[in-house]
Amino acid sequence: MKLNMTTAQNSFKYGWLLSRIWPYIKPYMFRIICGFLVAIPLGLLDGVTAFALKPFMDYVVGKQDWVFHIFTHEFTLTWQVFAYIIPFGVVAFAAFQGILRYLNDYISAWTSQRITNDVKFDLFHKLIYMDPRFFDENPSGIIISRYMTDPQTASAGIVDQLKTITTSLFGALGLIGVMLYSSWKLAFIGVLVLCIAFIPVAIIRKRIKSASNKNMVIGGNITTNINETYSGNKVMAAYELQKRQEEYFKNQIWDSFKVNMSLTKRSAWMSPLMYLIASCGIAIVLAYGTHLITSGDMTAGSFASFVTSLLLLYKPVKTLGGTLTNIQNIFVAMGRVFELFDLEPEIKNRPDAVELLSLNDKIEIQNICFGYLPNQPVLKNLSLTVNKNETLAIVGNSGGGKSTFVNLLPRFYDIQSGSIKIDGIDIREYTLTSLRHNIAMVFQDNFLFSGTIRENILMGNPDATEEELNCAIESAHLQEMIADLPQGLDTLLGERGMTLSGGQRQRVAIARAMIKNTPIVILDEATSALDNKSEAIVQKALDNLIQNKTVFVIAHRLSTIKNADRIAVINEGELVELGNHEQLMQIENGQYRALYDMQFKKQEV
Ligand SMILES: Nc1ncnc2c1ncn2[C@@H]1O[C@H](COP(=O)(O)OP(=O)(O)OP(=O)(O)O)[C@@H](O)[C@H]1O
Ligand SMILES: [Mg+2]
Repeated sequence: MKLNMTTAQNSFKYGWLLSRIWPYIKPYMFRIICGFLVAIPLGLLDGVTAFALKPFMDYVVGKQDWVFHIFTHEFTLTWQVFAYIIPFGVVAFAAFQGILRYLNDYISAWTSQRITNDVKFDLFHKLIYMDPRFFDENPSGIIISRYMTDPQTASAGIVDQLKTITTSLFGALGLIGVMLYSSWKLAFIGVLVLCIAFIPVAIIRKRIKSASNKNMVIGGNITTNINETYSGNKVMAAYELQKRQEEYFKNQIWDSFKVNMSLTKRSAWMSPLMYLIASCGIAIVLAYGTHLITSGDMTAGSFASFVTSLLLLYKPVKTLGGTLTNIQNIFVAMGRVFELFDLEPEIKNRPDAVELLSLNDKIEIQNICFGYLPNQPVLKNLSLTVNKNETLAIVGNSGGGKSTFVNLLPRFYDIQSGSIKIDGIDIREYTLTSLRHNIAMVFQDNFLFSGTIRENILMGNPDATEEELNCAIESAHLQEMIADLPQGLDTLLGERGMTLSGGQRQRVAIARAMIKNTPIVILDEATSALDNKSEAIVQKALDNLIQNKTVFVIAHRLSTIKNADRIAVINEGELVELGNHEQLMQIENGQYRALYDMQFKKQEV
């Protein structure tokens, strides 16, 4: 499943998207409603300023007393009192609105972050159970943007936008209320013009979707580039690839620039057009308002508060317009997020999977075929049987399929035909965890996590006792190295364990496999990188690891190969020879013998 090929097909299925996000929103519904309840008065209060202008103009500026009735009593407020009250009112009102705004911001930030957390938790959970093929196919930058940035946009955005929509909507409603109160005829014209001004917004939403997808892919590529610059910094320096990386980076940034500019070019006319339509509305209102005032149908105060409302209305309406664009972005991100939720790892448990407790008898590999890509077979019709506690060495040409073969045993990939059976049962019948629980692996490129050496070793078995830990360290010949380190076992390793030497990393990996103490051990040795002294140490460590185990060892050293019970020669994906050292040496023009003459003989000398 290539992620940069997916295009958020579902981003216009609003109902479907909302039903998917609903379970994440539901737990926080109470707080979201509280946020609403705060947002409504907060929005409505926008109208108060405009509304206050009418009495100010009509009574204070016009120097008239205000006479009003409550039930049958008549009250009078002189214009002087009014003039005193209004400034205080303005401050009190601002303080009140300030408190509401704080509450509203706090509640919505809290809920949106919590929802985002939940979505991220679930997405990461999906990610860690994806199979290796998924990671082969998708560059790191795409994964980062799809698994970290999109959920942020999708779920944080939705609450933020809801907040903005409620405050703006009620702000607009409050102002429209004031307008209606001042003059319904003028209000009618004002609202009609606003509706017309909104038509362009609807037109550009498709463009936003395509631009947003393009930006996601470009953003992912940029992150991948930075990751590679980081991980490959030495290769970059050694081969003077700085220019190349820089060129890549610049191209990507320019691509992103072009996408954004083309979107701006095609959508930025919207805002001025809205202004233009709105100004026509204001022009009509002013002309008609003058007529209403001169004909005595409206007071100057009413007109002042009407025009103020109309001008104030521009902000919430513009925000609402912007919100529509943002919401489109959010739905696109949501479409992408739920696409990820629907990804299923190809390799998973069968419904009736059984537990693999231990290896009792043998591992049978029958006629397996496998390729990473369709029509490009890597392993061709390979069959062999390994008995319990047997050590099988695997040799062959580089790229012949040795690593691929051992990766099939823990089901990193599933074979396309044939079968691999442990104690007579196909490995696909076992649960993945129990299968992998019985296999310890030391890889060709040993990966350590950032953290301490202790943590890295204990990853093999978090429940190991201190004694088991020490035993593993000793068997892996790590004690000297650890004694030399300032913080010993608790020394922090850099990212990917890069602060250790190749041989040290490998021995930590061996200790990790050792402490797991499984019946099946797979070693993809890459000792070619080691000098003779550390190779000898690693060899001793390996010898300790494979005692009384069923072992598959991809070997590059004669001693390992000779000590193995049997040797399988895999060339170009085919098992060409199988037997022990002596047997294979007997074969005239045999492949093993050729390999021996070429590589191993000099090791014997
Ligand atoms: N993740 C992958 N996706 C696609 N093709 C792959 C992948 N890993 C390996 N291959 C291809 O499969 C073939 C077998 O590779 P494999 O790593 O199994 O060789 P190998 O025998 O272990 O070689 P070496 O001795 O150099 O480690 C190679 O042609 C390689 O290009
Ligand atoms: Mg290999």
